[in-house]
Amino acid sequence: MELNKIIVGDCLAELKRIPDESVDMAFADPPFNLKKNYSSYHDSLEFQEYLQWCELWISEMVRVTKPTGSIFLHNIPKWLTYYATFLNKFAYFKHWIAWDAPTSPMGNSLQPAHYGILFYTKAAKGAKIYELRSPHKRERKTGYLAKDYGGKKDMLHPFGPLVSDVWTDIHRIKHNNKRDPHPCQLPIHLLDRLILMTTDEGDIVLDPFSGTGTTAISAKRLGRNYIGLELDPNYAIISEDKLKMTSNDSKLGDIYVSYYLKDVLTIRDIDWNYLKDFFYIPTPSRSIDQYKATLINSNIIPTSSFNVFKKENTDSMLNLFDGTYSG
Ligand SMILES: C[S@@+](CC[C@H](N)C(=O)[O-])C[C@H]1O[C@@H](n2cnc3c(N)ncnc32)[C@H](O)[C@@H]1O
Repeated sequence: MELNKIIVGDCLAELKRIPDESVDMAFADPPFNLKKNYSSYHDSLEFQEYLQWCELWISEMVRVTKPTGSIFLHNIPKWLTYYATFLNKFAYFKHWIAWDAPTSPMGNSLQPAHYGILFYTKAAKGAKIYELRSPHKRERKTGYLAKDYGGKKDMLHPFGPLVSDVWTDIHRIKHNNKRDPHPCQLPIHLLDRLILMTTDEGDIVLDPFSGTGTTAISAKRLGRNYIGLELDPNYAIISEDKLKMTSNDSKLGDIYVSYYLKDVLTIRDIDWNYLKDFFYIPTPSRSIDQYKATLINSNIIPTSSFNVFKKENTDSMLNLFDGTYSG
């Protein structure tokens, strides 16, 4: 199987060409069957037809994943409930990650406010999984910690807490003419987080619905190999163009991290001992309440990392709601 390429074709046919247990991580962000306007795909199959089709590519994703590997499925909760019932038969549930991002109303009950990312491992034991940390949440105006830790502030980690299964710190890309001409491009730092959590440098990351290449770009930035499958040749061309401008430099010193604008957004817990020397750490430790750990030299942030975000409009969550579902 050719690595580091966006392969144009139907994912079911292309997945069949990938050997058993050969990829370290598989991520899918399929069409959500919501009548999205893709250029070569009609996103509106009948209910059962859609689910049967999903079961075919999900089985293939599990087949090609190594025993140490992980499988991630991104969708709206409605479809994920069916995916989970199916996956529970031959893979191992780890988490339902709730990605807090505004979505379209689905009737007159609750306002949907998250996308789900199902996190399964191929084997019951022995999966490669790293704990992650992200910066403490702070009040926008005052900069103080958003949560009241009472007398326990001295014990807080200087960078930030371990990442939980609810992600509120990654915003959707605003739909405007600065983004790629694709209806549902994901933010790169969302993929960075999944890739840092479950793979190492040189590992292979697969995305059967590559779109404009978010997973491949994240994998390349983080020194991983990728296989992207995409039906639409135009999206593949856009992806390859962006990949040419991407290098494997999303690093702080020798360690891969995920950047968002001028900040480090996600690190692995095991790397902190090395990474801490790159930060001013507030002292005494309880002053973390008011001051965050900041990079000593922000010029160290790779420029290619910054370029990636030029295309992404990073306005606040409130501005992001445009009434459309991703997928
Ligand atoms: C939700 S989008 C993925 C967006 C992607 N995560 C990104 O950030 O750019 C789904 C993609 O799957 C592609 N697609 C639909 N059916 C496909 C198939 N059978 N095989 C491969 N790709 C397909 C669509 O063209 C679309 O680009």
